Amino acid sequence: MNIFLADAEATICLGVILGELLTAGSVILLEADLGAGKTTLVQGIGKGLGITESIVSPTFTLINEYTEGRLPLYHLDLYRLEANEVAALNLETYWEGVEVMPGIVAIEWPQRLPYKPDSYLSVRLSYGDNNTRIAEITPFNCVISGDFAARCISYF
Ligand SMILES: Nc1ncnc2c1ncn2[C@@H]1O[C@H](COP(=O)(O)OP(=O)(O)O)[C@@H](O)[C@H]1O
Ligand SMILES: [Mg+2]
Repeated sequence: MNIFLADAEATICLGVILGELLTAGSVILLEADLGAGKTTLVQGIGKGLGITESIVSPTFTLINEYTEGRLPLYHLDLYRLEANEVAALNLETYWEGVEVMPGIVAIEWPQRLPYKPDSYLSVRLSYGDNNTRIAEITPFNCVISGDFAARCISYF
């Protein structure tokens, strides 16, 4: 499913829809170039989950955890890591939700993952004309609530 995002507010809104609908254990892999809007989308997801704390890029902290919303949000940015360093982090802990409370895991630069989760939502953000963006959303081995398409159609 492709969604046209005219401005940053539209990117936030797509995130809000996801944040309201996704279930615990959902993993979102955000594949996009620098500046394409990955962190902006996660800010929307946080808003949709009811997180009021400001969501900032985890480029230096690697993982930011927000626990005040409907579900915990785990926001990762793997940009600065090599695949072997990522492997050592045992990130599956986050999506298996065994040692941490199951929540939504949003990963920037998932290209660095040595292996992918069994199921995830792929969100590719690319540049359109006039500084717009296009989001290409593909569920792998998972389903998004039927409300998702309906809400996107009514908003975008
Ligand atoms: N749909 C959009 N149209 C125009 N600008 C956008 C859109 N979505 C996000 N932006 C802007 O792009 C810039 C970079 O966004 P950011 O989320 O930090 O990107 P990334 O995390 O992918 O590097 C921000 O200034 C943000 O407001
Ligand atoms: Mg970012």
